[in-house]
Amino acid sequence: MEVIIRPDEADAARLVARLVARQLRQKPDSVLGLATGRTMERVYAELTRMHRKEGLDFSLCRTFNLDEYVGLAPTDPQSYRRFMGEQLFSKVNIDIRNTHLPHGQAPDLKAECLRYENLIRSVGGIDLQVLGIGESGHIGFNEPLSALQSRTREKALTPVTLAQNAPLFGPDREMPTHGITMGVGTILESRRCVLLAAGEAKAAVIAKAVEGPITAMISASALQLHPCCQVIVDEAAARDLKATDYYRWIFENESDWAPFRDDPRGSGVAK
Ligand code: GLP
Repeated sequence: MEVIIRPDEADAARLVARLVARQLRQKPDSVLGLATGRTMERVYAELTRMHRKEGLDFSLCRTFNLDEYVGLAPTDPQSYRRFMGEQLFSKVNIDIRNTHLPHGQAPDLKAECLRYENLIRSVGGIDLQVLGIGESGHIGFNEPLSALQSRTREKALTPVTLAQNAPLFGPDREMPTHGITMGVGTILESRRCVLLAAGEAKAAVIAKAVEGPITAMISASALQLHPCCQVIVDEAAARDLKATDYYRWIFENESDWAPFRDDPRGSGVAK
């Protein structure tokens, strides 16, 4: 695992967008794993900008989102399908038939989960998986005690996640209590993954996920098992990390990161 600390949320999101763009340029028919959540909005805005201004091409790529709420129609304003449409799919030249999310209203959820797993397998697996992290330590909707080898399935949401996401549904609407999510095992099979976290609210959980023990209580800690995982955080989310000198040294000195050190649109250089 590598941890990269950027000065602020905008720089961190831009770095993730640049990693996705590099993947697409190297392999235009990449299979991308995508995530939702407020943190991702800046990433999709930057990818949209790159599409419009730099010709970043999405025409051949395929996408699989991590999760969806059980019970919500794809047209529901709070569904992740709708989020993806609004934030990215309608703004770039992606073929909508190549975009996949679990169906939250599938009559047989077990069959739907199996279909999703098989679909990912049938395209050869995920090349690059983008991840956020919930305050419960979840990746996707893999709440505490998700088996580290779990596959796509239905999962009950914890009170922490309900509290984190309920404001998005507004005061007059109950949010769903369950999600369909790729499993931790499904995520670990992606060839590369990049997790983005920003803001103080994520500081404690990032420290547990990155520097704590691998435990099913913090699903994101399973990423320590992944052979190629990068965690991108802003200074606020890095607050509780201990080995920050080492992480900063990696970004400043390792040749893999050289193309990303100059951020022409950046707000500053990480100290
Ligand atoms: C939801 C998604 C997660 C995501 C999380 C982060 O719960 N199911 O995949 O990581 O949101 O949310 P935010 O970026 O809004 O903090």
